[in-house]
Amino acid sequence: MIHGWPETDESKKMLLDSVREFSKSEIAPKAKELDETGRFPSEIVKQLGEMGLMGMMVSEEWGGAGMDAVSYAMCMEEVSSACASTGVIMSVNNSLVCWPIETYGTDEQKKKFLMPLAKGEKLGMFALSEPGHGSDPAGLECKATKVQGGYKIHGTKNWITNGKQADFCVLFATIDKALGHKGICAFVVDTKSPGFQVAKLEDKLGICASSTAALFFDDVFVPQDCLLGKEGQGFKIALSTLDGGRIGIASQALGIAKCAFEASKRFASEREQFGAPIARIQAIQWFIADMATRLQAARLLTWHAARLKDAGQKYTKEAAMAKLAAAEAAMWITTKAIQVHGGYGYTKDYVVERNFRDAKITEIYEGTSEIQRLVIAAQEFAEL
Ligand code: CAA
Repeated sequence: MIHGWPETDESKKMLLDSVREFSKSEIAPKAKELDETGRFPSEIVKQLGEMGLMGMMVSEEWGGAGMDAVSYAMCMEEVSSACASTGVIMSVNNSLVCWPIETYGTDEQKKKFLMPLAKGEKLGMFALSEPGHGSDPAGLECKATKVQGGYKIHGTKNWITNGKQADFCVLFATIDKALGHKGICAFVVDTKSPGFQVAKLEDKLGICASSTAALFFDDVFVPQDCLLGKEGQGFKIALSTLDGGRIGIASQALGIAKCAFEASKRFASEREQFGAPIARIQAIQWFIADMATRLQAARLLTWHAARLKDAGQKYTKEAAMAKLAAAEAAMWITTKAIQVHGGYGYTKDYVVERNFRDAKITEIYEGTSEIQRLVIAAQEFAEL
């Protein structure tokens, strides 16, 4: 049972019930195979698109489902609980691609890029990080040179989710590195553009069915009308986009943690030692109690950040708190879930093994836990 807002909002409850049912019947049965083979779940992504889950917060006018961020967080949790790889594919398209195009794009950009992305007909990626600029993107080196009719992009991007499959890329490049973050511009780039290359696919610990790529832009021409926002506005577009992205990844972490928590309760009720289910042993009960508490605390922080976003209020700090708490809860809960399962939990026969591997990335991408602490502290000391 999900505690809190869905109980008092019938439409959210109905949405959640349908996404939970879909996740249970269509995604979860495939998750083990997806993890083992690293196969991109195209058929699931297509279904998510048909259900309106790839552009959940995009207005209906632009092909989206017109829902709020709280609904998005809840659905992300359900999908990620079944398959964390599918969760991040969905999260990147929703938070990191649709959102900045709807927020900063022109009507032409919305028509050309946002509509197919929101309907799930096309897939997006967000290319900010570089080999030398992960936590510190202000100094990024990918270069945008002004040419007749637009820009020429040259440089490398790293750790890009959906990098192999994406049709469109929200890309960040600098027109003048000497300007620091004020030289950074955002573009929407069609990956069919000549010079775009997927240079490397990472072989990862977890979220194996989502692609993580290094990209090379070899003098890729981007027309002027694909500049997103204004020249020099790119860094703020990136950071404001990541505020929302962090709600998505917090929700992904909640989903992973929920899966491990529920598996642990099931296992503890069935597994007998010393003549009784291990759920009767206080040591196990304390694990379960702490899991339930950390999961719910992180969930409420996440929904709180989403609620502020929906209210049009500032939510930078709250999104960072949500991601920090949810990622660390997911890592803790999945670690204890293996402990509850004992030796069984260390094998691939039990879902908690995958949960443990999938949880780790939530402490790293879209800002490490250390970066979230920096963001929170900066807001706490904002008056200094
Ligand atoms: N929204 C909008 N603007 C913001 C902002 C926000 N949340 N936070 C800061 N800014 C603005 C500031 O107001 C400032 O503007 P002015 O110069 O006009 O005053 C400007 O941005 C620079 O601010 P800072 O000096 O605070 O920036 P910084 O360089 O010190 O960086 C940081 C701060 C928090 C460390 C930031 O760099 C950061 O979040 N780093 C982590 C990056 C990250 O999350 N990367 C993940 C990439 S995506 C991914 O993981 C891949 C994937 O596919 C999933």
